[in-house]
Amino acid sequence: MAKTSAKKSAGSGLNSSYPYYLANRPVAANTDLEVLDKYSGKVATRVAFADAAVVRKAIVAAHKAREAMAAFPPDARRDVLEHCVRRFSERHEELAVALCIEAGKPIKDARGEVTRLIDTFRIAAGEATRLGGELIELQISPRTRGYRGMVKRVPVGACSFITPFNFPLNLVAHKVAPAIAAGCPFVLKPAVKTPVGALIIAEVLAETDLPKGAFSVICCSNEDAAALTEDERIALLSFTGGLIGWELKARAGRKKVTLELGGNAACIVDEDPGVPLDHVVERLVFGAYYQSGQSCISVQRIYAHAAIYDKLRKKLKEAVTQLRMGDPRDERTFIGPVVDEAAAKRIESWIDAARKGGAKRIAGGARKGNLLPATLLEKVPRDSDLYRQEAFGPVAFMAPFDDFDDALSQVNDSDFGLQAGVFTGRLDHAMRAWDRLDVGGVIVGDVPSFRVDNMPYGGVKHSGLGREGVRYAIEDMTEQRLLVIRDPVA
Ligand code: SIN
Repeated sequence: MAKTSAKKSAGSGLNSSYPYYLANRPVAANTDLEVLDKYSGKVATRVAFADAAVVRKAIVAAHKAREAMAAFPPDARRDVLEHCVRRFSERHEELAVALCIEAGKPIKDARGEVTRLIDTFRIAAGEATRLGGELIELQISPRTRGYRGMVKRVPVGACSFITPFNFPLNLVAHKVAPAIAAGCPFVLKPAVKTPVGALIIAEVLAETDLPKGAFSVICCSNEDAAALTEDERIALLSFTGGLIGWELKARAGRKKVTLELGGNAACIVDEDPGVPLDHVVERLVFGAYYQSGQSCISVQRIYAHAAIYDKLRKKLKEAVTQLRMGDPRDERTFIGPVVDEAAAKRIESWIDAARKGGAKRIAGGARKGNLLPATLLEKVPRDSDLYRQEAFGPVAFMAPFDDFDDALSQVNDSDFGLQAGVFTGRLDHAMRAWDRLDVGGVIVGDVPSFRVDNMPYGGVKHSGLGREGVRYAIEDMTEQRLLVIRDPVA
């Protein structure tokens, strides 16, 4: 067993190494996973790397901890979550700097994510003592005279969680915090490119009196993590990431599966957007380019009414051209690096292919390594990757529409359906968007990139299955258990 904290790497803001956590305890093992500073490209820290045998041990521990976790009282679960809220608040800047380094996330966005981490644990602390039930009237005919029904929620058992690189804290929080509130032990595999956030969360969990085996946070290869999907002792798999999630579901056997996958989110700007155009521009720029577009609900498609198209285009061009790109530690930086050069090259190749197919660039420029300037296009061909796939980078395009219903159809012309944004001053248009858009959430008066951590969040079509947003995740992590009581004298 290793000590929880190691020495700081000179000048990095991270420890020189991090252990993984097996059954609540840190294990130093071989620290052969190098985590890069995504801006400098240098090794920022090293992380203990596990193999399939460790993953199996973690599953056994979680499976054994089922009963202890189910019996761990709601107020004790709340206390654990409140401890996390306190410790994350104390370590706010340290967590933000870690994110900035391991994810290349601009420091202001990184601080925002730490705040959301805290929010998510705080929401879960509240939910932990509110796992209510239901009374059901069973006396529906003479046959059922004297019968009463009651339903309570019980934890499903051991869960496995797989999380992506783009929100190393908050997308971990959306699985871990509800699991603790629900009383489920878990094994988490964070993204190997950005494991540090999850390991700091594990370090804080290890300070609590969660039952033995309640949690493991394991960094390993996808191959060695196969048992997280396939092992029948796991009752629920919750995966956030790319379309590979559907393949995991196919291999998951009888377990419950929650998938939060990608999207190519759209935003409609109506003839009367309902708010000043400058506000729309500010929100679109945020929605399309914050953390370099590496969010499943980043604005990728902008459908603007023809009457305001040219004006919006001009204002967007000015705003996008001014976005500052560079070192994510610099407070003035808006566009930091994307996760690696391969991702930057892939996004660049989609932009190039769209331009070859007739797209026009409104704003953008040359790539420098994994830094891609904020790019805005128009006339993007409908069959291009940039139109149809999830870009996951700082790129968006605009297209005009004449008729609001046609704009709704264009939004729906996608394999994905996570969230959509609609700027409109017309109540009938807002309601029609809510009725007709084939997505998990419609955001009126803002971009699709809006999320508060207690709202139901998830998609339809290729975008996923199930909902997160603490209470909704807890519903998945629990089963209804019915009690029927008969009054013999009734
Ligand atoms: C995601 O990329 O799916 C998460 C977006 C968010 O939590 O804001």
